Order: sequence, then structure tokens, then C-alpha cells
Amino acid sequence: MTIPVRSGAAPDPVAPHRPDATGLVDRYGRAATDLRVSLTDRCNLRCTYCMPAEGLPWLPGTQVLTDDEIIRLVGVAVRLLGVTEVRFTGGEPLIRPGLPAIIAATAALTPRPVISLTSNGINLDRLAAPLRAAGLDRVNVSLDTLDPARFTELTRRPRLDAVLAGLAGAAAAGMTPVKINTVLMRGVNDDEAAALLRFALAEGYELRFIEQMPLDAQHGWDRAEMVTAEEILASLRSEFRLTADPAERGGAPAETWLVDGFTDRAGRPARVGVIGSVTRPFCGDCDRTRLTADGQVRACLFATEESDLRGALRAGADDEELARRWRIAMWGKRAGHGIDDPSFLQPARPMSAIGG
Ligand code: 5AD
Ligand code: SF4
Repeated sequence: MTIPVRSGAAPDPVAPHRPDATGLVDRYGRAATDLRVSLTDRCNLRCTYCMPAEGLPWLPGTQVLTDDEIIRLVGVAVRLLGVTEVRFTGGEPLIRPGLPAIIAATAALTPRPVISLTSNGINLDRLAAPLRAAGLDRVNVSLDTLDPARFTELTRRPRLDAVLAGLAGAAAAGMTPVKINTVLMRGVNDDEAAALLRFALAEGYELRFIEQMPLDAQHGWDRAEMVTAEEILASLRSEFRLTADPAERGGAPAETWLVDGFTDRAGRPARVGVIGSVTRPFCGDCDRTRLTADGQVRACLFATEESDLRGALRAGADDEELARRWRIAMWGKRAGHGIDDPSFLQPARPMSAIGG
């Protein structure tokens, strides 16, 4: 099976000088409309591919944006910069007490953005309904295994039941679709691709596999060890018939396939997605901008530069000035992540402090 590899962004900038555009445009003709906000770098799990057992040196409280500061910056992004989708991430965003208020304030913006959450699912069983009421539209829950012992080994916490309850709670609260994110690791859980899809189909969740990226705090990522998109598809095909999804992919990172003979909760053909960030980069269509919990704009998951908005905000900058700084930050976005370049350097900030 061959799938067309999507190109990265053009190596040569198409626009050397920033036009007087209001949106978050860059030199390669992309415009960022999808904002990811990390609400905390802390987490109640310790996934081995993300953090060491003892956790990480967390951001000091004074550096973390307050709820009001987050709401202000999200407002700037939506009202002045053309952002139409806001996703809250972590660490684990559900451990932030102000989350319902942050979501409610985001939902009150005009134009109202689509609001989503990436979570490990713990406590989502009781939080799904209030968050839904506050305006949360969608959730992605991370789940890498259905085996309790393996879950405990992988996340260093015996919480599989809590995650499964969280998924059920999200569906019961009317979140559609409820998505599951899975990272497969060789020799750890790479034998579970088909079982995870069987589970997702039975429960009406939409499963997406994510190729493991060099973003772990321990810098242990090894390309040769990574389970590739091609391998994931081959493994699924041992049990399922997959056909190309006719739906437009747009800026979405997941390539999706229809699973023959299955439907989702809404009665539409069931899908499975693969995010081939490493082997099938989609940088050319990237529409993301990121804000860290300590108020830094990142143009890319893999950016080595950040632009400080917290300092400007706390020094009294008005919304126009914050928007101007955000635009400049995004104009500097690179063409692609460059994981395959010999000069590639993993960013100093790990995934848990950037958000997915
Ligand atoms: N590569 C790919 N995905 C990762 N995640 C965490 N670390 C990595 C990595 N190095 C996933 C989590 C979660 C989402 C935020 O990103 O499992 O689903
Ligand atoms: Fe927490 Fe997500 Fe990192 Fe796991 S991958 S430790 S759930 S932030």
C-alpha cells in the first residue's frame, strides 16, 4: 500500500516581507487559525515516553499565566488574529481548577471558536458534563493500552479504569466525536493496534495513532525504534478492511481511513486516523499556533525559539500590541520540523510543557 506523501512547506519563502495582514500568516503562505493553549506543564500520570518517574522541574507558579491572563490572550487570538479553533492541553489540563471558567469565557467570544481539549481522561467522568455545559465541544483522550498491567507500567499509575470512565463520561455528556490518541512503541504496545481499534469501534470512539516524536523530556527518542504509519496500517489491515477516506483533510494532521462494515455513534462510516508526523509530515498545511502555560508563543511543536507574551502582558501592553507581537512570532515560523535534517535539535521544552 502506498499513500502519497504530503510535501513539507516550500523550502523557499514565497513572501520575503510580511504583508499588512491581520491574521497569523507566515513566509510560506500558511495562516494559523488553530490555537493550542497549554494550561499547565504538570500531570497526574508519568508516561514513560514523556516524563521521568520523579516528574520534571515544574514551571514556578509566578510564571504560569493566571486564568484572566489566559482568557485575555485567547481573546486577542480570536478577536484580532483570526483564530477559529482553541484547544486546551497540558500537561494535564483537567488538573487546572480554572478550566470551566476559561472554557466559558472562550465560548463567550465573538466569533465563537470551536473549543476542544486534549486530556489523559482522569477525572473526565465527573468533569465532562460541567465542561460541556461551559462550552467544550470535543475531547481527545490519550490511551495507549487496554491492558491494566501494561497501562500501569506505561504511565506508572494504576489508572486505566479512570481513563475508561473518563471516555464514557465524555460520550455521555454529548461530546462528539470522542477521540482517542494512541502512541505505539516497539516491544511495548505495538501488538495492540487492532485491539484498540476493536475497542474504539465497539464504543463509538474515533481512534487516531500518532507516530512518536522526539519530544520526550529524557531525549530517548530513536527513529529506528519508532513504529511508523506504514507499520500501523499494516497491523490494522491484518484484521480490518480500510479504504481511503473521501473527506477533505484540510489542515488536519491525521490521514483517515474508513473501516469497512462499521459506523460511528452518529451512524456515519467509522474512521481510523494515523498522524504520521515523522514519516509523512504535514508541515506544508500546518495551521497551528501555540501558547505555553508560561505565556510563550511557539510557532511549531519543534520550534527552538519562543516569543514572550507574558512579559509584555504584565508590563501593560494593550491588545493591539499583544496581537502585533503574536503576528511577528508567527511570521518567523519555519517551513518544517526538520526532524530528518542532520542539524535537527530537539526543542529544550518537552511535550508536557508545550501541549499536543
Ligand atoms: N510523540 C507523539 N505523541 C506524544 N504524546 C506525548 N508525547 C508524545 C511524543 N513524543 C501524545 C500524548 C497525547 C498527546 C498530547 O500527545 O500521548 O495523546
Ligand atoms: Fe501526562 Fe500526557 Fe505526558 Fe502522559 S503523555 S505523562 S498523560 S502529559
